[in-house]
Amino acid sequence: MSKSSVDLKKLLSQMTIDEKIGQLVELNAEFFIKSASEVTGPATSFGFSEHGLSTIGSTLNFNGAREMRAIQAKHLENDRNKIPMLFAMDVIHGYKTLYPIPLSLGCSFDPELMKECCSMAASEASAAGVQLTFAPMLDFCREPRWGRVMETCGEDAYLNSVMGVAQVKGYQGDDLSEEGNIAASVKHLAAYGGAEGGRDYNTVELSEHILREFYLPAYKACIDAGAKLVMPSFNNLGGVPATANPWIMKKILREEWGYDGLVVSDYAALRELMNHGVTGSLKESAEVAFRNECDVEMMSGAYYKHLHELIDEGVFSEDELDRSVMRMLELKAELGLFDDPYHMASEEKERELFYCEKHREIARRAAEESAVLLKNNGVLPLSDKIKKIAVIGPFRDTGAINGFWTCCGDKNYAVTVTEGIREILPEAEIVGADGVSAKLGESSTDGIDEAVRLAESAEAVVLCVGEAQDYIGEARCIADITLSAPQRELVRRVCEANPNTAVLLFNGRPIVLTGIADVAPAMLEMFFPGTEGGRAAANLLFGRVNPSGKLSMSFPKHVGQIPVYYNRTMTGRPKRQGDDVFEGYTSSYMDCGILPLYFFGEGLSYTKFIYEEMSLDRREMGESDTLAVSVTVRNAGERAGKEVVQLYLRDLVSSTVRPVQELIAFEKIALEAGERRTVRFEISEPMLRLWNFENKFVSEKGDFLVSVGYADHMYFSEKFTLVK
Ligand code: BGC
Repeated sequence: MSKSSVDLKKLLSQMTIDEKIGQLVELNAEFFIKSASEVTGPATSFGFSEHGLSTIGSTLNFNGAREMRAIQAKHLENDRNKIPMLFAMDVIHGYKTLYPIPLSLGCSFDPELMKECCSMAASEASAAGVQLTFAPMLDFCREPRWGRVMETCGEDAYLNSVMGVAQVKGYQGDDLSEEGNIAASVKHLAAYGGAEGGRDYNTVELSEHILREFYLPAYKACIDAGAKLVMPSFNNLGGVPATANPWIMKKILREEWGYDGLVVSDYAALRELMNHGVTGSLKESAEVAFRNECDVEMMSGAYYKHLHELIDEGVFSEDELDRSVMRMLELKAELGLFDDPYHMASEEKERELFYCEKHREIARRAAEESAVLLKNNGVLPLSDKIKKIAVIGPFRDTGAINGFWTCCGDKNYAVTVTEGIREILPEAEIVGADGVSAKLGESSTDGIDEAVRLAESAEAVVLCVGEAQDYIGEARCIADITLSAPQRELVRRVCEANPNTAVLLFNGRPIVLTGIADVAPAMLEMFFPGTEGGRAAANLLFGRVNPSGKLSMSFPKHVGQIPVYYNRTMTGRPKRQGDDVFEGYTSSYMDCGILPLYFFGEGLSYTKFIYEEMSLDRREMGESDTLAVSVTVRNAGERAGKEVVQLYLRDLVSSTVRPVQELIAFEKIALEAGERRTVRFEISEPMLRLWNFENKFVSEKGDFLVSVGYADHMYFSEKFTLVK
């Protein structure tokens, strides 16, 4: 594993207990920029001495290569053992050059593109001194009210796994010691996205089969793909916060999955064990976390203060301490830090890479591939012969379309929609007004008359609405995710005034579009598209790029439908079409039914794809066989375009209730006008497994239905049998 010339065992044997413990402490960079006596706020209560700080193993939240190099140089001067510090950041959707938030990039259904984005982010971050990112975030989520839904790749476990693995590969590359590669951390184990009511940090209560089938697979897939770190989640699971939870941290992670890498707590999670009320002191927190093999603790000071004492008391042995320290040293060695403690970070490289044309091109392509055309009555694409266009709405000319976790990027910097349109229509007159504000609690509609006047005066309107980027992300949860009332009014009035209107949506979660979906002639979902967002939007609006994204998460018709997701399970009294007698007794709502407004997997194009055929190469398969499914798709329109061919499965009779459909494979294909392609998928036995009531993953003999299409819109379905 270790590539370093340093003998890690020898190094370890020379370290004192306190120096070893220092390796297991992660602190904000502010601790190292200022001297210990100057450190302010909660940090003072941590009680770090100047000498103690010189032993610390890792840091987070620093600003660029210059700062990193200064901190590392000072550290190496002061640390007797000359062990380089590890530098971490939350690089979630880009470092400086920002690409779409993960929820949006999930809509691209393009893992290669995801990998390219993460590799680009890693190269910028690494130039700036980052050696580890706290990503990918793999928290499966069916809850659009949760602010961190933006960090997931949507509501499907398989899509999350595939996109998660792509992130790990993109960040880490093949060799961590190489320039531009950084370590990735699987987070947050486990089920942080299952927070009750979508309230961040809230309790999670799930049955084991739901946890195993939906919540855990993406973490596991990324660990299997070689992610170097794991971060436990803040939430309690079955009554015990993850950091203190032996079932998840020991039994599942270490024993079942065989993970032997580093575990780093989430920010101040050990202190928060006291807030949860599961420990009565910081010392107790240190004890339960370390017992569960949480190797490193971030920003609690618990190990620094109490681990030595716990070893002296015989609660832990020095061997246990060594095991955790060795994991940290191994990672540093893999990163090549003993040979180059700066991991090639340089200000010159920062200048060369930040916002460079190559990275902008990747970010733009990612935004284009991720946008989802939700509706189009023919208004789109717009003509580039337009002489006068109105660009209206609170997101018409703002760079604040990046979302949360903009890391060291400027969160308010992006190509705006108006700028993007101006590049395509250099001669046209572009008029614009916000009309209303997207701020929560704003009710003024005073600006709408002016917006309507401008809309009437133009040949076409691009209407940019959504939610402010500050309403999404950690601790930013929203109870009513309906597009705000003033914006709904704006959409209604502008669409009435000019039927040649296309609505562009900027949001970090699924939002409720009921009401405006009927009046808007066209709607293009951009989510938070990042640095090149406005340019990507313009390319899509004017047909320079054909939209190809498919929703990674369902958009409810009404907040009261939440959770609403495509892979629901059957009840004993499913709703029967036209059956009024049982209407009130089914598991449906009398006022809005059970189906979302827009489905997972849904998305239009400027061309038309026709699914012509689906065939299976056999009707029966044994446990060691594979079954091939061939699907033929034709581009029946007049433009080239891309289609995501999605394969779903349903287990028709099984020992546990199964979803009505589950995505098991997909492929995004590009077809010229008139072109036809046959896509071949292979089904193997592991894809048919379920978590049974004996707590095992098993496949069960019997009939399965395989379908192509999306959610409740399947083009073809065929049966096959698993024989045992
Ligand atoms: C978040 C983590 C993040 C950490 C460090 C926490 O509040 O939950 O996702 O990695 O902070 O910034």
